[in-house]
Amino acid sequence: MSTILRDIFSVNPPGRLPAPPLSRQWQSKRQLTKSMLMYPIFITDDPNASQLIPTLPGQSRWGVNKLEGFLGPLVKKGLQSVILFGVPMKCVKDHRGTPADDEQGPVIQAIKKIRALFPDLYIACDVCLCEYTDHGHCGLLHDDGTINTAPSVERIAEVALNYAKAGAHCVAPSDMMDGRIKSIKRALIDNGYGNKCTLMAYSAKFASSLYGPFRDAAGSAPSFGNRKCYQLPPAGRGLARRAIQRDAAEGADILMVKPAMPYLDIIADAAQLAPDHPLACYQVSGEFAMVHAGAAAGVYTLRDMAFESVDGMLRAGATLILTYFTPDFLDWLDN
Ligand code: PBG
Ligand code: ZN
Repeated sequence: MSTILRDIFSVNPPGRLPAPPLSRQWQSKRQLTKSMLMYPIFITDDPNASQLIPTLPGQSRWGVNKLEGFLGPLVKKGLQSVILFGVPMKCVKDHRGTPADDEQGPVIQAIKKIRALFPDLYIACDVCLCEYTDHGHCGLLHDDGTINTAPSVERIAEVALNYAKAGAHCVAPSDMMDGRIKSIKRALIDNGYGNKCTLMAYSAKFASSLYGPFRDAAGSAPSFGNRKCYQLPPAGRGLARRAIQRDAAEGADILMVKPAMPYLDIIADAAQLAPDHPLACYQVSGEFAMVHAGAAAGVYTLRDMAFESVDGMLRAGATLILTYFTPDFLDWLDN
């Protein structure tokens, strides 16, 4: 090797020690901004509820009457979008998830309330049946307990359309049934919501061990069996790539990978397979709990690890991040 080359390679490039912070920041292709954050919130059907969720540090289930006090300060700090999860406590669950789109149910009531209180806040709604079915699965079942796909898709599209009619800016089906993106898009277009309501697909959703705190929070654990027949096997990179391409072809407006931290390669795949779509990733309940647990155990500081986790997602190609850290990031990004 020539001395010149050796000299070039031995230089500490700007951004490495002891560079000033600004030139270190410039080493990232994309930096976290407040507009990239979508905050998952749990809405229950007791209008005055504010119940802490023990397995999700600092997170609560909220009743609609508490939304102003809960969201107001966050909106002031720059919160721009939320994704709603309904947690019915009082209503009667059945085989088809009837309470999902009950006019008096928590999600539709919350959409209307939030639109009235905070007209500039973007409202996405998770669309699934597991919180509302008596068996806790994400679709309708055959007598033998397996998923009956066709009526599941029809019902899920109906729920999505009803959220759009109530004023949701975005519907996000998390059920993973084959064909649901096409059906929901069709239903939105046929009813005049094609350009009014964004369709965000949980495209690559893995059968993960990281959903435990969420299932506590939402009361949505299946009463028998598991979700492995409709969520992706964690090692199934090929299936994930196919699901991403399928959802893009079926008309999804935003694609999502979930969970995020153990699936950064899938985020990078999605960014390359669908470069013209916004790409979301969901830092799920178990990831959030894990980052907190490590901080509590003295492994790292919470803020540093939270930023490092999200920097990884951005580096992989995510443009939108669903995270329970959103309120913290709104503070941290200010100082
Ligand atoms: C429901 C749904 C789940 C999550 C989002 N939507 C749970 C599941 O599939 O069991 C997980 C979110 C989280 O863990 O934060 N289909
Ligand atoms: Zn579900």
